[in-house]
Amino acid sequence: MPSEIMTDNLLENTQVADLEKAGDLPLILNVEPNGMRSLAFVKKNKATIQRLIDENGALLIRGLKIHSSKEFGNVLTEIFDSPLLKYTYRSTPRTEFRGNVYTATEYPDNQVIPQHNENAYSNSWPDRIGFLCFIPPVVDGETPISCSKTLYEKLPQEIKTAFEEKHIMYVRNYIDVDLPWTEVFQTEDRSDVETYCQNNKIEFEWLDNGLRTRQINPAVAVHKKTNDKLWFNQAHLFHVSNLEEEVANTLISTVGIDNLPRNTFYGDGSAIPDAYLQTIRDIYEETKIKFKWHKSDLLLLDNMRFTHGRETFEGDRKIIVGMACPNGHTQ
Ligand SMILES: [Fe+2]
Repeated sequence: MPSEIMTDNLLENTQVADLEKAGDLPLILNVEPNGMRSLAFVKKNKATIQRLIDENGALLIRGLKIHSSKEFGNVLTEIFDSPLLKYTYRSTPRTEFRGNVYTATEYPDNQVIPQHNENAYSNSWPDRIGFLCFIPPVVDGETPISCSKTLYEKLPQEIKTAFEEKHIMYVRNYIDVDLPWTEVFQTEDRSDVETYCQNNKIEFEWLDNGLRTRQINPAVAVHKKTNDKLWFNQAHLFHVSNLEEEVANTLISTVGIDNLPRNTFYGDGSAIPDAYLQTIRDIYEETKIKFKWHKSDLLLLDNMRFTHGRETFEGDRKIIVGMACPNGHTQ
């Protein structure tokens, strides 16, 4: 309730000008730092900000003035109490700034980026992710969020059972049409890749035209603090059915079905029914929460509890990202 936060008076040195909810979340906190620098502001109000993220899983702070990627990195490090993480074992193209701050995924503006928890295809991921809006898009270009617990709860039992029993195999081929292995693994040295794979339970195979990896991970994760079961994977995003039919057909006829840049199967190598993946996409779509970006908006997410994605957009759009607090599957 907004009044609770007002009477808490925990955000000292600022006025809580307004507190509103877009759908249920993210909680939008409008602040007026009154000339206070952003880093000083978040230091002063750190406990409250952390509490709001813990309670809600998603918080949008509006009204800070963050002028550079460096300042953004410092603000995130302070809020998350953790150094920012390198974006290793990459899935998408990004530009890197100093201090492990990156641009949001640089896919063309006419492509929707499906909802996903960052690095949920991997056995390690950031527990926290933060986004800063440098340049708001003119038309659309939202970063929708959706609740991983809600997705799990809404999925038909038959689908949950299949995935929970069999897990997910992510197969990637690092060939010309997608990210090369040197970019994914951030090295030119094959032995670095092999060491990374061995340390992260990834099978690898060097091929004439590049590299293939296979990795099996659970479809569901349990949140350590809330104990909730969360739908936490990227089966729908890596699966060939994520591509437009024409693109998929062209790729298959060019490189062959086994050499697609990315694809998913059940952990035993059997096919995941397209209908199951469509149901997952449909529920993500119907549970998406959108808000309009304002310049300098700071979106803070529990990366396990909330997915993010991207709508198509027109005009310039610049959102930068930082990730923190490493977590991973224990098995
Ligand atoms: Fe992402």
